[in-house]
Amino acid sequence: MPSKVIEVTSLSKKFSDKYAVRNLSFEVHEGEIYCLVGPNGAGKTTTLRTIVGLLTPTSGRVRVMGHDVHREREKAMRYVTFVPDNPVLYGELTVREIVLLFASLRDIDRAVVEDRMFELLELFDLREYVNVRIKNLSRGTLQKLAIVLSFLPDPKLVVMDEPFMALDVKTQKTLREEIRKRARRGTAFIISSHVLPWVEEIADRVCVIHKGEKVVEGTPMEVKEKLGASTLEDALLNVLTGS
Ligand SMILES: Nc1ncnc2c1ncn2[C@@H]1O[C@H](COP(=O)(O)OP(=O)(O)O)[C@@H](O)[C@H]1O
Ligand SMILES: [Mg+2]
Repeated sequence: MPSKVIEVTSLSKKFSDKYAVRNLSFEVHEGEIYCLVGPNGAGKTTTLRTIVGLLTPTSGRVRVMGHDVHREREKAMRYVTFVPDNPVLYGELTVREIVLLFASLRDIDRAVVEDRMFELLELFDLREYVNVRIKNLSRGTLQKLAIVLSFLPDPKLVVMDEPFMALDVKTQKTLREEIRKRARRGTAFIISSHVLPWVEEIADRVCVIHKGEKVVEGTPMEVKEKLGASTLEDALLNVLTGS
């Protein structure tokens, strides 16, 4: 059994008096691609932001590689990178400068940074932007850069919130292949996505959440069986319509 990278236990998050996430538990292992799916407002973003330590849970616990994300944030976050749904990066810096800054924050050996940087920029067709300032990048290009940054330190766990949203089809394919390749080498992924055919293809396990709570979890096949549907899209529709 591959080792556990993250363990989420009875996680709840309230905003004023309303639960955005309620009593959510799951674990993800080395090399596993775990996808969170659910309608708008289901609590996906809140879950992801809480497990990477950007939001404080109302109750429950998150441990990464045995470290509590909220009590030992620095230790836990050494293993994690996060691609937010709407990346914000220092606008005045160039692509090259942000990559180097990020690499130094993550203690990546200077000798390997340049090679890794060019390899990843090449992969995502970003080479021509190396000296362009962040503020002049399009939404999709910024998204690609955020993805490159998340791969740069070769973390144990990559958390991505709707990473496909602003990407063209070619880049979606590149990302899908890169995620698979990295998972085979042991990286764990937690990804929220609306693109259900894509989720169906890539996910080792899927967690369907609705109104902040887990409805069902399992391999795409298991989820479809449990919800009596032939595609994940239909499975989710069954949840939403209560059938
Ligand atoms: N900062 C916030 N303050 C108040 N309510 C919030 C905040 N962030 C999210 N919510 C609420 O929490 C619920 C879950 O939102 P979110 O996690 O963004 O869902 P999803 O990513 O699945 O669309 C929604 O009802 C949303 O309005
Ligand atoms: Mg969201």
